[in-house]
Amino acid sequence: MNLNYDFGLIGLGVMGRNFILNVVDHDFSASGLDLDREKVEALESEGQGKDVFATTKIKEFVASLKTPRVVMMLVPAGKPVDSVIEDLLPHLEEGDIIIDGGNSHFDDTDRRFEYLKGKGLNFMGIGVSGGSKGARLGPSMMPGGEPDVYKVVQPIFESVAAKVNGEPCVTYLGPKSAGNYVKMVHNGIEYALMQLISESYDFLKRAGGLSNAELAKVFSDWNKGRLASFLVEITAEIFQKKDELGEGDLVDAILDKAKQKGTGKWTSQHALDLGMPIPVIDISVTMRGLSSQKDNRVSASKLYMEPRSTGSIDKQQAIKMAEAGLYFSYINSYAQGLALLSVVSDEKEYNLNLADIAKIWRGGCIIRAGLLEKIRSAFASDQNLANLMLSTDFVDDLNDSQAAVRELVVSSIAQGIPMPAHSACLAYFDAFRSGRLPTNLIQAQRDHFGSHTYERIDKEGIFHTDW
Ligand code: 6PG
Repeated sequence: MNLNYDFGLIGLGVMGRNFILNVVDHDFSASGLDLDREKVEALESEGQGKDVFATTKIKEFVASLKTPRVVMMLVPAGKPVDSVIEDLLPHLEEGDIIIDGGNSHFDDTDRRFEYLKGKGLNFMGIGVSGGSKGARLGPSMMPGGEPDVYKVVQPIFESVAAKVNGEPCVTYLGPKSAGNYVKMVHNGIEYALMQLISESYDFLKRAGGLSNAELAKVFSDWNKGRLASFLVEITAEIFQKKDELGEGDLVDAILDKAKQKGTGKWTSQHALDLGMPIPVIDISVTMRGLSSQKDNRVSASKLYMEPRSTGSIDKQQAIKMAEAGLYFSYINSYAQGLALLSVVSDEKEYNLNLADIAKIWRGGCIIRAGLLEKIRSAFASDQNLANLMLSTDFVDDLNDSQAAVRELVVSSIAQGIPMPAHSACLAYFDAFRSGRLPTNLIQAQRDHFGSHTYERIDKEGIFHTDW
């Protein structure tokens, strides 16, 4: 056993195994730890001939690493992270670096950062996106922590990250939990894009009458245009998959109840705390909850009639409408998520660079999309852009596609097809572009029933009226 491994990884599930193999493929040596013998053996067998070592013993694992030790954890978020940290503590020395690569809550990361700092240890929270395939071939990574500590691990992370135009999809983002926060919002946007795509599917299938084969063709065509993105690409593949356990296509055999691990919900929870509107993410979390009420939905489906048919829609017209509607709502989803990041950046003193974030999301991660290059460039030319919709680069895109999204939403409502995420995007857009909202009336009502006061449009000061 070499006693000088460059990188240590705890948690040799598929994701961890793939990540460590990716590290050793880039000329670094690496050591892995897992309590499960089978996982250790799986790494040993896949890593044959490579500079990788695996063990079930923590002492042996720590001893195999060169100092300062770099130990990354890829274990489930929550308690497992704390218990791995406690197990490691007796073996580590001042200056060693612990990295949490899981989807940890930002508050947990801040707490762990302070706790380990008190023990002379360095801690980083690094969001890793791209699933097990991404871990092997190049993920997108969102690091937060001390910049000097990041410098130590930078060569490893830049080597293993996905590359777009030769640029690695990883960059230092900010202090403490900045990386986990950005990854959480990434996941919130991921929830939104997935909900939007599933609504497009529903519309094309129910209103446009498209078969799975036709849907596969549509999504694959979309992936060659302005909607080019990982989620559109895999959607085209999903529609082509036959069911190996039954007749027909696999997608039709899958139960329509969406699970969730919590990152989308955390995004909405914290956005509400900050008073930041991200309705497309909120509704996407809500729809996962509603999808889980399968039994109630089936009961209700027997009680309520479908709206009277409004006549069929021409297939080509439906595809055109759905494409433009999805493009409009894609822009909206990134705009809402990034607007939250711009506010939290000040609030939590992360000092985020939104152009950098868009840049490292262009490859490797689940929300990668061609559109992110244009988003990167918009934030690069205006560092203080509060909302993507205020960038002149997006005005034509949104103006040109707004008629389609309106038609899509109206047509879906008329036919009883739920389109909540597209509707949320459209409503957000309409509210955001309204110089005057009806909120003057809410202020009047608050003052009427509770003397909560109001401001005026024509005079400075705080007013109250005896209504
Ligand atoms: C990624 C993903 C990943 C996440 C899954 C599942 O970026 O690779 O975001 O981190 O765990 O997407 O999330 P849900 O179970 O909440 O859908």
